[in-house]
Amino acid sequence: MPSGFQQIQEEEEEEEEAAAPGGGGVTPTLVLSVFAATLGSLQLGYNSGVINAPQRVLEGEYNATWTRRWGSPPPPTTVSTLWALSVAIFSGGGMAAALAVGELAERLGRKGALLASNGLAVVGGALMGGAKLGPSYILIIIGRFIIGAHSGLASGLVPMYVGEVAPTRLRGALGTLHQLGIVIGILGAQVLGLEALLGTSGAWPALLGLGLLPAALQLLLLPLCPESPRFLLARGQRARARRGLSRLVGAEAVEAGVAALEAELQGHTQRVGLLQLCRTPAYRQPLLVTLVLQLAQQLSGINAIFYYSTAIFEGAGLARPAYATIGTGVVNVAATALSVVLVERAGRRRLQLIGLLGMMGCAVALTVALNVQGPGPLPPVLAVAAVLAFVGFFAVGPGPIPWFVGAELFAMGPRPPAMALAALLNWAANFGVAMAFPALQRALGSFVFLLFGGLLGAFALFTFLRVPETRGRPFAAGGPPPPRLGPPRLLQPPEKACTELQCLAGGEEA
Ligand code: GLC
Repeated sequence: MPSGFQQIQEEEEEEEEAAAPGGGGVTPTLVLSVFAATLGSLQLGYNSGVINAPQRVLEGEYNATWTRRWGSPPPPTTVSTLWALSVAIFSGGGMAAALAVGELAERLGRKGALLASNGLAVVGGALMGGAKLGPSYILIIIGRFIIGAHSGLASGLVPMYVGEVAPTRLRGALGTLHQLGIVIGILGAQVLGLEALLGTSGAWPALLGLGLLPAALQLLLLPLCPESPRFLLARGQRARARRGLSRLVGAEAVEAGVAALEAELQGHTQRVGLLQLCRTPAYRQPLLVTLVLQLAQQLSGINAIFYYSTAIFEGAGLARPAYATIGTGVVNVAATALSVVLVERAGRRRLQLIGLLGMMGCAVALTVALNVQGPGPLPPVLAVAAVLAFVGFFAVGPGPIPWFVGAELFAMGPRPPAMALAALLNWAANFGVAMAFPALQRALGSFVFLLFGGLLGAFALFTFLRVPETRGRPFAAGGPPPPRLGPPRLLQPPEKACTELQCLAGGEEA
């Protein structure tokens, strides 16, 4: 006999299935659309990871270019400053462009904005790939800024487009593919950057210019995909929306799909600006949740691992740290793929909590490993295991979830500015950690990961108290101010959680 709770859950799942446009089925157009969009995520990941492995080779190149240009070698601090700029300016471009996400998505449409963003990817890729033809460090630095701007746009536009074309019951799984694209890009860059492949003084232009490939592929494929039917319906383009939806969900489900979207959009299609988003009390709670999830992703310390893992492994006494670094990329991809499967079963909230608490435990274990003295292989093995598990816990929850839960918590009008703000905060925090980590490491030594452990604990508490479950829920509706959020809802039936979620998003109570 099913318990009352199970029965409610089963009934709910049946209702969801009926309400989801297309009953949640996967059509070739849906696959193509999600694949084409997430080529932007791949581009983002590739370019964020590509600069690490060839550092020595590129510093040599900067040195030689400077010497040719000015007749004498540069002071060592000049090369390291130029290098730091080449790394950090990527996040600068990301931040600068993130704020334009909302405006572009509204003016050009979700697909239109994604297509247009490739202009930046092509210019950035060409500048870096052709950098040997001019003053290489200048062309690389400008190219990194421009490709960073492309990534800033992709980090808001991809989850928005994917979230809006996905059937409700697959929204989490498909949303996680954005992060899967990013991590495959990072791993690809880690591997291709090895000296045995493209990390050499002859081949680095190919390594840096390789981002042109996903850009070309996206320019080829996206025009074959439909624009977000939600966006078209909100603009009153019913016929186009219907055609797109019919390709996305199948002709037999199109009527139910249009009806569901119209019900979702009713009264909620008005554009909302950034200022209005920040000032309207109804948006305060979902905005707080969206932004804190982004902060949790970055202040977890994940990029301290991705940017400095080789040094961390060296510090732990490992003989071949570069291979352990590639191990982090492999675990990242494998655990993100696991999350694609888990997220619609376990739910966002639970995976986020498990991920944050697991990372906290690993931060403590890593601190112990880095501080244990003594002979034998145990400390390095423990350090590597702790770092790999840290990355694994990140990848099942805090990596993918913040990207798409933001889209789920907002209705059509406030969604674009909310995604823009979320992307901006993500890039700013990313930049902050990258800049601050070396100084923090100098100040705290091998205890630096305890700092992240403390932050992770605080974010886990916030998730427990404030983050609602959005699995299987129709997109939130914007509306009247919500009541205050209640206590944690882990053990409450979905009915109740749903009611509170609608309250959170400013919708009406069921
Ligand atoms: C997320 C983060 C990014 C990080 C990556 C690692 O996409 O936004 O900063 O490098 O995960 O997997």
